Amino acid sequence: MIAAAAPGGAAARRRVVVTGGGRGIGRAISERFLAAGDDVVVLQRSEPEASLLEAVAAAGGTVTHVPIDLASEDSIAAAAARVLADGPVHVLVNNAGVQDRHPAEEFPLAAFDAVMDVNLRAVFQLSQALGAHMLEAGGGKIVNLASLLSFQGGLRVPAYAASKGAVALLTKALCNEWAGRGVNVNAVAPGYVDTEMNAALQADPERREQISVRIPAGRWARPEDIAGAVHFLASPEADYIHGVVLPVDGGWLAR
Ligand SMILES: NC(=O)c1ccc[n+]([C@@H]2O[C@H](COP(=O)([O-])OP(=O)(O)OC[C@H]3O[C@@H](n4cnc5c(N)ncnc54)[C@H](OP(=O)(O)O)[C@@H]3O)[C@@H](O)[C@H]2O)c1
Repeated sequence: MIAAAAPGGAAARRRVVVTGGGRGIGRAISERFLAAGDDVVVLQRSEPEASLLEAVAAAGGTVTHVPIDLASEDSIAAAAARVLADGPVHVLVNNAGVQDRHPAEEFPLAAFDAVMDVNLRAVFQLSQALGAHMLEAGGGKIVNLASLLSFQGGLRVPAYAASKGAVALLTKALCNEWAGRGVNVNAVAPGYVDTEMNAALQADPERREQISVRIPAGRWARPEDIAGAVHFLASPEADYIHGVVLPVDGGWLAR
């Protein structure tokens, strides 16, 4: 555990589980909750980035890293049990995701399964495990990371698009069963964000420019843009918001 002194008088501190919460968009999400005075549990394979330590020091919360392989049912079950053994979970952010690019006609089936396992099956398994706990506790918040490819098919990413389309409907399916029992299930659909996932696009100046000029806001998203929306959907201000897939895309889908 990475810890710093708790700020005096902090109220209603929540325990927030963020998959992939140690780098990329997930790191910004973790930092957003820390800044609000919450404690964060990061579920990912690698150690969280060093900058998260600075955020912990500044905010006064704690970050606990629980190693997990979201491609493994056993690893997810073990990590969920460990998280629940350590205390209640108030918020689950299913942020971790993977992408693989091949022309559809050549896409290896094993690669298709690998994307679906992490982006969809793991989201369901973790939502089941931690959602059951929230239902028993009488409330909680689940925020999933969808994508523009929850709405559009993309190019050479059929597994990713299929998984993110399914995440959008899984969000609604869980909402329908759990909204009346105090658990909000929603999703944020980021536009193009400058992270490692988009390294290939970033490295292609022509493709990058094509994307940039199509974004009404005139720029790619920053991880902080996405973190703000996730934090809002997990806040009391969003208590009556259920089953939405909120685009945070600089206007991309409006074009
Ligand atoms: N970047 C974008 O433009 C964009 C747009 C729309 C939606 N999204 C979605 O936003 C989420 C975050 O994306 P990002 O851009 O921040 O991605 P990223 O920089 O590639 O980070 C991916 C995160 O997922 C974790 N992860 C991947 N496979 C894992 C596994 N098997 N077990 C455990 N953790 C695993 C990684 O941690 P480890 O590798 O250490 O395990 C890492 O923390 C994803 O769901 C993505 O689909 C991103």
